[in-house]
Amino acid sequence: MRKPIIAGNWKMNKTPSETLKLLQGLVKELWDIDGVDVLVCPPFTSLAPAGELLKGSAIKLGAQNMHWEEKGAYTGEISADMLLDCGCSYVILGHSERRMIFRETNEEINKKVKTALKKGLHVVLCIGEVLEERNEGKTMQVVKEQLLDSLVGLSVEEMKGVVVAYEPAWAIGTGKTATADDAEDVIKEIREIIKETWDGDIAEKTRILYGGSVKASNIKELMSQPDIDGALVGGASLKTEDFVPIVKY
Ligand code: PGA
Repeated sequence: MRKPIIAGNWKMNKTPSETLKLLQGLVKELWDIDGVDVLVCPPFTSLAPAGELLKGSAIKLGAQNMHWEEKGAYTGEISADMLLDCGCSYVILGHSERRMIFRETNEEINKKVKTALKKGLHVVLCIGEVLEERNEGKTMQVVKEQLLDSLVGLSVEEMKGVVVAYEPAWAIGTGKTATADDAEDVIKEIREIIKETWDGDIAEKTRILYGGSVKASNIKELMSQPDIDGALVGGASLKTEDFVPIVKY
């Protein structure tokens, strides 16, 4: 039985003081939440205070990106050790906004995944097609290539630290959700690819999330699908009253 994960991707929202306010609300509601892993991923500048506030709570802390090198002359970048020191146990890698706006490639994402896992961080690897690719019937081709190229060279043991998030880019922040059936079809195939590439046991254990306009009103339908193990939530993770019902569901 895979434990569900509800992860909040705050993107470029919330200053450190706003972060503490939002987290105080979440902690009050979710301090000892059980049966689901809750993850919040605020911006880099909020991680240190967030880590302090979340100490001892069941809510886990993650970052939204990191660099693959351990340290050195990489102006503007953040390393895995910096995230760990702030109390992070997860990092989101390969989000479609990073792929599209910042031109991150699968090769770069693969280097980040390897460094993160080596350092003991869990990875939430995001993959997903854009609308044009979906309309051309290329969804599975794109998703498979992103999955395999971003995870190339990982052992079964390393795969234990990976959570996959299927996020069709056209459903992100648009209010358009893939139907639960569409999401299930793709996620089921992702599990199959993991089975063919690594093995059946790790495919059964790997948690695969759906992301893209997830809200309290659609979480039930998504979670009723056998292969969907949780959600990566953007917009609806920025308010306690929106995020808590998704987690509690
Ligand atoms: P959204 O974003 O929930 O606002 O669509 C999801 C994501 O980008 O992770």
